[in-house]
Amino acid sequence: MKKLWGGAFSETTAELVDRFGQSIETDLNFWQEDIIGSVAHVRMLGNQGIITLEEAKLIEGGLEKIHEEGPEFLHLDVEDIHTAIEIRLHELIGDVAGKLHTARSRNDQVATDTRLYLHNELLIVFDLIKKLQGLLLEQGEKYRDSLMPGYTHQQRAQPITLGFHLMAHFWGLQRNGWRAERLFELANYSPLGSAALAGTSFPIDRNATAAELGFTAPIPNALDATSDRSYILDALHLCGLIMIDLSRISQELVLFSGREFGFVKLSDSVTTGSSIMPQKRNPDMAELIRGRTGRALANWNTLATTMKGLPLGYNRDTQEDKPPLFDSLRKVKDSLKLVHLMLETADWQLERMASSVRGDFSTATDLADYLATTGIPFRQAHEIVGKVVIECNTRGCTLEDLTPEMLANVAPEVPVEALSVLQPEGSVQRRESLGGPGPKALQAQLEHARRLWETSGFATVA
Ligand code: ARG
Repeated sequence: MKKLWGGAFSETTAELVDRFGQSIETDLNFWQEDIIGSVAHVRMLGNQGIITLEEAKLIEGGLEKIHEEGPEFLHLDVEDIHTAIEIRLHELIGDVAGKLHTARSRNDQVATDTRLYLHNELLIVFDLIKKLQGLLLEQGEKYRDSLMPGYTHQQRAQPITLGFHLMAHFWGLQRNGWRAERLFELANYSPLGSAALAGTSFPIDRNATAAELGFTAPIPNALDATSDRSYILDALHLCGLIMIDLSRISQELVLFSGREFGFVKLSDSVTTGSSIMPQKRNPDMAELIRGRTGRALANWNTLATTMKGLPLGYNRDTQEDKPPLFDSLRKVKDSLKLVHLMLETADWQLERMASSVRGDFSTATDLADYLATTGIPFRQAHEIVGKVVIECNTRGCTLEDLTPEMLANVAPEVPVEALSVLQPEGSVQRRESLGGPGPKALQAQLEHARRLWETSGFATVA
């Protein structure tokens, strides 16, 4: 296997050593970032007179050619992407290729590549989050009045609307978008020019390469720049949080699409059949998102465990930072798209949802609230309504069926007008407190959310 090192070695390494040490397959994810980082470096070398401008141009031309050709032209029987690109560069422009690595090490190079990669991926994640939020807003508006049961403890609690429920997921995405933006700012500093760990004696210009690559500034300490991986841990944490939210949406879709709920039909394009039971329509994508969240969460733990024992200075252990990062980002991107697809094509069973609100005692709180407005302390009102619920259960009727006679019998203190608050529509309509599902409150929330959505970036909820 061709190497970038070996001058001081008299024997070749064992094949197993070569294979065990290879990262080329993983590195292919950021072959473009590696070239872009090298272009910035070589321009700086030329401008600083460390190599001649002609040499710099030649090398830059070679790198551009490699970029145009694509990774199919790289030899992949090498240790890593840095080696593969340098070998290809040598094939294209000859010995001058060897000057590219002046005043640089793979240690600052790989850290630069990873930061550039994360930078680009976060831009994609921002976009996918915005798209999913846009869909939630659209559906939040469309289903603002569609009644459904609201749950606590997975028990029917109080009636809400589907639009209100979907909008709850908008805000989780907003927070994660905000977190992603903060991470973008935090990670956007340049390690390039730190060399192996301790800088270089060449008169390099780190400010110039940082600016050219779109970084805010160079990382001030070369040892820190080549050792730090906390931004990858942040990214893994962020991916874990996004996956948790997507997993919870998925779990709802699994539940709601089951016959017991029957609230939603997922489209054929996102479900699968069973090889034995012809009637089955399985929500596999939702299940896989839920299932893969486990690995996304473990990815943070994987790298944190790797990092905790490492002294400063590059350690080869950190080669293991990239598989979890690439894996988590891929999962997040795919899952954001899949949740979008599942929701976009979901056929909500509005009648079934609305009718399941009836007869489930979920307006009991409304009756208690009503009694409280007549001056009865809420605690006492709660108890009175408890008695009414028991009476209904004994008679096998629902709250909506309660007649004035039945009411007078069990709770004479309750005025007969109270019966009107037991209808689910009215229950939602009266809950107009800020953040509630009442029509005015939900309208205000939708307008608030749309304003934020139309603003570029992710201000939190303010
Ligand atoms: N594949 C290595 C990594 O991902 C590249 C850096 C190698 N540096 C070294 N000194 N061996 O970390």
